[in-house]
Amino acid sequence: MRTQVGIVGAGPAGLMLSHLLHLAGIDSIIVESRSRAYCEGRIRAGLIEQWVIDLLIDSGVGERLRREGMFHDGIYLCFDRALHHLDFRNLVGKQVAIYGQQEIVKDLIARRLGDGGRILFEVEDTSIHDIASTNPRIRFRQGDKAHEIECDFIGGCDGFHGVCRDTIPGDKRATFERDYPFGWLGILSESPPPADELVYTYHERGFALYTMRSPTVSRLYLQCAPDEDIANWPDARIWEELHTRIAGTKPLQEGRILQKGVTPMRSFVCEPMQYGRLFLAGDSSHIVPPTGAKGMNLAFADVRVLSRAFEAFYRSGKDDLLEAYSRTCLKRVWKAQRFSWWMTQMLHRYNLENDFDMRRQLAELDYVASSVAASTALAENYAGLPMP
Ligand code: PHB
Repeated sequence: MRTQVGIVGAGPAGLMLSHLLHLAGIDSIIVESRSRAYCEGRIRAGLIEQWVIDLLIDSGVGERLRREGMFHDGIYLCFDRALHHLDFRNLVGKQVAIYGQQEIVKDLIARRLGDGGRILFEVEDTSIHDIASTNPRIRFRQGDKAHEIECDFIGGCDGFHGVCRDTIPGDKRATFERDYPFGWLGILSESPPPADELVYTYHERGFALYTMRSPTVSRLYLQCAPDEDIANWPDARIWEELHTRIAGTKPLQEGRILQKGVTPMRSFVCEPMQYGRLFLAGDSSHIVPPTGAKGMNLAFADVRVLSRAFEAFYRSGKDDLLEAYSRTCLKRVWKAQRFSWWMTQMLHRYNLENDFDMRRQLAELDYVASSVAASTALAENYAGLPMP
């Protein structure tokens, strides 16, 4: 097989890259180790920034988002047993939307296949080769048949555990990492969300987040230990903790728990995001803790920059945008890292031996809720910094 851009991974980054390239008349093939059903069912991020809403609509894959997305003007901060609303529309003139990653993935897969795109699901033993040459290759197996795709470029969109990042020689990349002494226990519940917008809660027992997937399905998270055993959390304990942390500021309705799991939290960056003809995008090169809701948004930002660079290359033969890819992306990546770390350290309980941090966090929350300057800074980052 031969294509212009070989893409590893059919998550939001790989699919959007392939879609944007197609709109620019550039051919691509996606290889994915999981099944289509797995990719479309995986419950992950849910919040998109204003410019991502615009990107989905403007690129022709926003029809269902328009109908089913939940458009929010802001968020609530809950601390000291009171709710404080931050109005992004007033502060920065932007909205955000709740529209699950799996819905975006479904829309993009349907559109790619409808446009005649090639997505190869359930491939095995994927490896990439010759990335320092002008003819990189993707090799994989399907059943007992070995295959090879010859490409001009490779998009490494295969997530944190994918194979692409590790093919960059160790002495040609650096990694920056931070672990947190807590994780999130997340549930999906058949019950209406407690508020019309997201509630980020700081409580002496720990952080909680009340978000949603639809008017009748809530997505609820509790700060827990990073290695928490889900077996220690029967449904009744989860609900009790969720009630305690929202502290009566909104009525919390219980429902059937459809899914439960623990997510560890980390901050991670691999630099540079490119080597030879391999370009990393999304989780393959950076991970943020979920508190800032930046993960999927960053993946889209990477592929927006990358698709424009490929377009310039194929149109005029110029590779200056491709050369600048990593530098361009990392500016946004590090700002998102800073914001995600900042939200995380402000909202989680740690240093339990000493209440200094708790007093400091409450002061910071009060400052953010009461100062126009501070709430504007949060709103500007949360609703999405301008795209280059
Ligand atoms: C979600 O809806 O799953 C979600 C929203 C905002 C976050 C994290 C997760 O900060």
